[in-house]
Amino acid sequence: MHLVVTGGCGFIGSNFIRHILNSYEDVKIVNVDSLSYGSNLSNLKGIENDRRYRFVKGRINDMNLMKELVKDADAIANFAAESHVDRSIADPWPFFKSNTEGILAILEAIRVSGKNVRLVQVGTDESYGDILVGSFREDDRLNPSSPYAASKACADLLCLAYHRTYGIDVIITRCTNNFGPYQFPEKLIPKTIIRAVLNLKVPVYGSGKNVRDWIYVLDHCEALDKVLRNGKAGEVYNISGGNELTNIQVVEQILESLNKPKDLIEFVEDRPGHDIRYSLNSSKILRELGWRPKYSFKEALEHTIEWYLHNDWWWKPLADERILHPTPWKLKW
Ligand SMILES: NC(=O)c1ccc[n+]([C@@H]2O[C@H](COP(=O)([O-])OP(=O)(O)OC[C@H]3O[C@@H](n4cnc5c(N)ncnc54)[C@H](O)[C@@H]3O)[C@@H](O)[C@H]2O)c1
Repeated sequence: MHLVVTGGCGFIGSNFIRHILNSYEDVKIVNVDSLSYGSNLSNLKGIENDRRYRFVKGRINDMNLMKELVKDADAIANFAAESHVDRSIADPWPFFKSNTEGILAILEAIRVSGKNVRLVQVGTDESYGDILVGSFREDDRLNPSSPYAASKACADLLCLAYHRTYGIDVIITRCTNNFGPYQFPEKLIPKTIIRAVLNLKVPVYGSGKNVRDWIYVLDHCEALDKVLRNGKAGEVYNISGGNELTNIQVVEQILESLNKPKDLIEFVEDRPGHDIRYSLNSSKILRELGWRPKYSFKEALEHTIEWYLHNDWWWKPLADERILHPTPWKLKW
């Protein structure tokens, strides 16, 4: 299979590339990434010289580049996005450029090629907005709260329209919050680990009662692999880790594991529009594609903490005051 992975120098994309190369001998991967701030070529350390892998620096918005790559591709997995909600509150424009205009360029490149190329659009549970009781199913309405979530919801709608109007072989996944190795230090779990290791106060938004459903990144990668190979065109698949926890529970577990005192926790001003609870029903992917998560939250969190403890060469150059800021949505980016 000739696979184009976009955004493969980011957190999930780089884990996905490793997963695919480790799982299949007969595969060729082209990784297209613009190398924006959240990316890191060292996320792919060790595989740069794999004969099955090639890196191209570029933006998915570049139609000529995407048309060129579509020529040899059997499938595209689109991870490329601006991904930090807080930054989207401070400046939404880059989010609509990459997340919405970017997917339009990929869809157009496939359409004008006339080829049958499968596209997996990696989407988010945030497109549904929050839910106080119960869980979202794939056909529930999209009701995003942040500019980030809105830009991703727009992308999903474009994909569905291109399937309906042009018959493009596109599948959308919507996944809950990921964590694991190579996650950029501005996100909750790595930020908490790093600030605690550095004996800095650990910020928690509002009351800390907001609920997220966490999934280990390798479980997400396995689900995406199944969707890519066996998913049905035009369908949406929810992917949930089944680990609903309040933010304060997550932070407390990390501090306990690192043997750090709870008084490092500092409650800070909540970000505007902060969703209260996310929850997905992922019985469809379980039933139709036989996927289920393999890792327990506790085991995966321990593994993640160990990874950050042993790889400070990776995060130290990235972890400056702005990246670790307690309220990044207040900054000018
Ligand atoms: N992290 C999560 O918890 C989560 C959950 C559900 C869905 N997702 C989705 O998964 C995808 C990957 O998320 P992530 O956490 O790995 O993000 P990330 O920020 O770590 O990686 C995104 C990558 O995309 C690249 N990129 C951004 N704009 C680009 C463009 N226009 N052209 C080419 N490359 C571009 C960046 O350089 C970066 O390497 C995103 O689409 C995100 O919306 C993430």
